[in-house]
Amino acid sequence: MLSFSNEEFDFTFLDEGFTAKDILDQKINEVSSSDDKDAFYVADLGDVLKKHFRWYKALPRVTPFYAVKCNDSKAIVKTLAALGAGFDCASKTEIQLVQNIGVPPERIIYANPCKQISQIKHAANSGVQMMTFDSEVELMKVARAHPKAKLVLRIATDDSKAVCRLSVKFGATLKTSRLLLERAKELDLDVIGVSFHVGSGCTDPETFVQAISDARCVFDMGTELGFSMHLLDIGGGFPGSEEVKLKFEEITNVINPALDKCFPCDSGIRIIAEPGRYYVASAFTLAVNIIAKKVVLKEQSGSDDEDDINGKTLMYYVNDGVYGSFNCILYDHAHVKPVLQKRPKPDEGCYSCSIWGPTCDGLDRIVERFDMPELQVGDWMLFENMGAYTVAAASTFNGFQRPAINYVMSRPAWQLMQQINEQGFLAEVEEQDVSTLPLSCAWESGIEHHPATCASTSINV
Ligand SMILES: Cc1ncc(COP(=O)(O)O)c(C=O)c1O
Repeated sequence: MLSFSNEEFDFTFLDEGFTAKDILDQKINEVSSSDDKDAFYVADLGDVLKKHFRWYKALPRVTPFYAVKCNDSKAIVKTLAALGAGFDCASKTEIQLVQNIGVPPERIIYANPCKQISQIKHAANSGVQMMTFDSEVELMKVARAHPKAKLVLRIATDDSKAVCRLSVKFGATLKTSRLLLERAKELDLDVIGVSFHVGSGCTDPETFVQAISDARCVFDMGTELGFSMHLLDIGGGFPGSEEVKLKFEEITNVINPALDKCFPCDSGIRIIAEPGRYYVASAFTLAVNIIAKKVVLKEQSGSDDEDDINGKTLMYYVNDGVYGSFNCILYDHAHVKPVLQKRPKPDEGCYSCSIWGPTCDGLDRIVERFDMPELQVGDWMLFENMGAYTVAAASTFNGFQRPAINYVMSRPAWQLMQQINEQGFLAEVEEQDVSTLPLSCAWESGIEHHPATCASTSINV
């Protein structure tokens, strides 16, 4: 059981009937008469809890090891630690982050096939045994720096249909896998299983089916060579919001029968996964403020574009950009669209608009073109589903600070989380209690909401 005394993990309780959206509106109202309108996040930890229940409902045989790289905010890591998740760490710093909040080493997999020797030694000294590899050189390094490691062979997948490909960089072919297993045997190393990643933003669940079947082949090779193969790691790639063509359950409905076929329940194989995006994307909403604006008249732009409706286009400059949270546009191939904080009047005309970040770089464009009513400097735009691969890679280029993150959680969510932390996973609460947890940050735009006067209390847990 983890202690809940860390002062850095503080959130605001949502009072009954209030949602994360109300807190967001409240924060915007608080600064409405000032010029101090920095970009900020509201992150609903209850949404992470909901995802956890949804995970176990859809993939009952698979233990999640959250991929810390996706969002390494302490509150997220601590929430998932309290829920009993494991962690996929890619570096010494991520291992330290997770261990500093009390996660035991058995709940960590060092899932980076190409590691610096000093960091392998760090894993050895801190008791982290599970680690991935996909090359002979890595085996030789591990034999030297961590001979007791429990090795997991990462195999390549056909991730050509994924949004972010990973097998271009990592993963052994089936042929190479046999050679690597033989080499591991020679080096007297312990290989315990197989891992893969279908690519982040998976669009074809059949990739999982093929990868699971390939993993079975490698399990059989390992067993033939005398290894006790007992761990299958199906990686990440699961969607984090509903704004995708392929829904989470559509993927898991394909994965489950493939697992049952290749790794039946009675085989005793432990199955884990490394979801990142799945857990955090929908929990975070970013509010940015318009700091500057340009009106480009049609005759100025020289555009013949019939779509330049109402004779002008508008350029908005907001206080977070691609060097900050919107790095996801460059690194994660994200397409973002704003939600207006102020509801437009029914008869208001629309203009073709572009949205730009605050830095001096022309690359710093968030949205190339979006039709919306005219806004003013000081108005807010919201971006939903901003929890994955955003804050983790944001820089302070040009001196623009990263947005503050305001964590919120409802009391029922907090109580459930505490129960899980004390008693372990509570399968019986799943249906009745989780469905009644308040909505996440990802609300429908324009939804009716309470006035921004909700009473709320802060807590350090
Ligand atoms: C080894 C590994 N595991 C897990 C993840 C998380 O993937 P996702 O966010 O698609 O679930 C990644 C992402 O790059 C990864 O490299």
